[in-house]
Amino acid sequence: MEKLIVGGAARLSGEVNISGSKNSLSAILPAACLMEKNSVFTLRNVPVLSDTECLCGLLAETGFSVEKDDSRKMISVYGEIRNCSLSEDNVGRIRASCLFLGALTAAAGEAKIPFCGGDRIGDRPLDIHISILEKFGVKVYVNQGVFECKAKIFPLQGTTVFLRYPSVGATETAILLAVKAVGETYIYNAACEPEITDMAVALSAMGANITGAGTSVIHIKGVKTLGSLDHEIIPDRIECATYLLAFAVSHGRGSVKNVIPEHNIALLSLLRDIGINLRRHGTSIEIDAANHNYLPIQADALPYPGMPSDIQPLLSALAVLCEGISVIKDTVFVDRFQYVSEYKKMGIDIFRSYNHVYICGPQRIRAAAVIGEDIRTATSLVLAALSADGETIIHGYEHIRRGYEDFDKKMNSLGANMLVL
Ligand code: EPU
Repeated sequence: MEKLIVGGAARLSGEVNISGSKNSLSAILPAACLMEKNSVFTLRNVPVLSDTECLCGLLAETGFSVEKDDSRKMISVYGEIRNCSLSEDNVGRIRASCLFLGALTAAAGEAKIPFCGGDRIGDRPLDIHISILEKFGVKVYVNQGVFECKAKIFPLQGTTVFLRYPSVGATETAILLAVKAVGETYIYNAACEPEITDMAVALSAMGANITGAGTSVIHIKGVKTLGSLDHEIIPDRIECATYLLAFAVSHGRGSVKNVIPEHNIALLSLLRDIGINLRRHGTSIEIDAANHNYLPIQADALPYPGMPSDIQPLLSALAVLCEGISVIKDTVFVDRFQYVSEYKKMGIDIFRSYNHVYICGPQRIRAAAVIGEDIRTATSLVLAALSADGETIIHGYEHIRRGYEDFDKKMNSLGANMLVL
């Protein structure tokens, strides 16, 4: 495990630039499988992350060539599918590998993919993805830990799907299956996250016919072919939220740049409500968190435009500093509370009951050695460490590198004191 040493009592100031969205990239890159031979699939503003390497590795396994420019922020994909069977090496590392089930089956009528990996944030079944594949006439078997998909009729036929929950990944699977299916598809109770809209913008630029992305009903008219793409990935709204919260926990002052403020409307509204000054200027958000008397937090993590579940663990670090009882609930991932046991090692009095935590603040945070075994747990511990009374050692920095570009460099440029070992 890689270690991050974080100095306490920090007060951040300055400007930070936000990178491209990890989860948009995960949604868009598998769509390269759907392009015609001789097309070129170019993505810009790609975040430099270990998850990006993994996604590119998955595309390379299917037979595509993936090239990066010197900055590694532009990716170009060429070629065609030569292999519909993915190995466990990359699939086991990220959840988004399950999107290749839809992408490969839509492009070639079949796919074989082992159970996908990803953050351990509780139960993450694929039942909605599977039921969508079946709706499109795909037979799905599980054979020795491998999902095997085979289209009964190929090309696939458009259909109507209703998602029992507005799952982000399952909505992406449905879109991938529908864009080249014969006829029309309606997706009801679709996820509305900005990453879905970004995916639809990219696919539309390739020639797809999609309306309603970003709402709960998406309508798609299948097209025969999809061509080249040149697309800029949207900024990462969770990275933006993380830096806003880093300013907030350190009572700092600064600006977060290259963002789409509307994508963080739930967080901006909450920060204002508890007493933090914010100003939006186009693609920047200025924050002044000099106030030392924050009101307590009441927040429910919900599907977009509600508070993102990814932010829920980070909000708890702020709740420790608020005056009064904060109640934070996660309705999306009801077990995403791996940080609670680590907070206790930092002397934080926090009580969890099913999908809620209760924190009575303000509390003193003590430096300790802790473990973050997924991206947001590890980041939540960093935020708590910023206002601790000494040097905190966080094991699991490799998880932060999965989702945050140059995390230690960006934080140190704002005046934090972080060292990766
Ligand atoms: N669910 C099912 N069955 C399914 C699919 C989902 O029961 O077939 C449940 C999940 O167990 C969960 C809820 O539905 O309780 C929502 O899951 P969703 O499918 O929306 O999440 P996801 O697509 O697996 C993406 C992000 C997550 C983010 C969630 C929620 C990617 C690669 N991952 O996951 O991001 O937390 O949406 O917004 O896009 C992260 O970045 O750290 C991360 C985990």
